Amino acid sequence: MPAIPNLDANLILARDHLAKGKCIVLPTETVYGLAARIDQSAGIEAIFTIKKRPSFDPLIVHVAAIEQVHDLAHDWSLIADSLARKFWPGPLTLVVKKNAAVNPLITAGLDTVGIRMPRHPLALTLIKAAGAPLAAPSANRFGKTSPTTLAHVQEEFREEISSGEILAFDGGPCEVGVESTVCLVQDSHVSVLRPGGITIHQLREHFLNSVGMKHITVGLALGHQASPGHTEHHYETEKPLIVSWTESLRPTASYTVEGKIIPGHRIQEIVLPLNPALAARELYSALRAADRDATSDALFIYRGPHTHGLWMAIDDRLMRAARLRLGAPSEVGD
Ligand code: TXA
Ligand code: MG
Repeated sequence: MPAIPNLDANLILARDHLAKGKCIVLPTETVYGLAARIDQSAGIEAIFTIKKRPSFDPLIVHVAAIEQVHDLAHDWSLIADSLARKFWPGPLTLVVKKNAAVNPLITAGLDTVGIRMPRHPLALTLIKAAGAPLAAPSANRFGKTSPTTLAHVQEEFREEISSGEILAFDGGPCEVGVESTVCLVQDSHVSVLRPGGITIHQLREHFLNSVGMKHITVGLALGHQASPGHTEHHYETEKPLIVSWTESLRPTASYTVEGKIIPGHRIQEIVLPLNPALAARELYSALRAADRDATSDALFIYRGPHTHGLWMAIDDRLMRAARLRLGAPSEVGD
């Protein structure tokens, strides 16, 4: 994390900005967020307007201490508590029944709220300085590639940052690089609505190793109607992206994109690192860099055969970002 000159003075600025119902850029370990205080409707509305985000897509509430959940959740079960104590601060969002006091703009009218405690030290410092939990989606226009550096956020919201409407903080490149795992916690089952920085394997291991929790099951629930924001087309690049899960299908200049053969396509291949933690960290940066490269007008990624661990989150994003998919992830790993 870069050193922030005059951190204390900047924290006071952030606190005052948020108290006026305005937004800040919140660096987290997953991706950068666009944050407002949960008790400032003007700030929450500004998030939706600035991002061009549809009002049906709920926001995650970010806390700096586990005790803050008691004002947010209606019932905070032993399962939710056990997951929070194991994986917070970190890339895990817990969706639980909401407290009536939580602004329905944040939860898109649902009776649940998504809560997470990020582990980036500057995120925790900013939430504490704010004096209230912060609602924050990723700091990008709706449906587009998420930002993992402040420069990415500046590409998205240059005017709002330079005019002072948004106060931006630089936390360096995000360590995880893909968003949090979103889990719906119900009775004795945990449904993963969005794979992310904490793997299904880690969640299952946790319950197997916890006294009295071996019966808790964990399953993938993609396309679950309870996760309205995790739409089929998301994380999209500007240039058409082709993703192949089949070694034999590599791009040629005559690939069909959106049903049309576009002659003269200059296809640029993005090669992801073989280590999934590194691949996750570099994914959005690599997509954004290739999008800006003037020498190509379409992008191609070949995904190897691995599907376990963090590859599941990476494949989920690539499935949604791709304009053309060749094959599919061979099996769902954990
Ligand atoms: O890592 C992350 O989670 C980042 C950083 C900034 O914390 N945030 C993030 O927010 O990815 P966003 O808004 O881009 O994605 C939030 C996802 C959406 O798919 C949304 O539908 C889901 O979380 N979500 C939020 N609240 C929910 C709820 N009450 N029920 C179901 N899904 C919820
Ligand atoms: Mg997002």
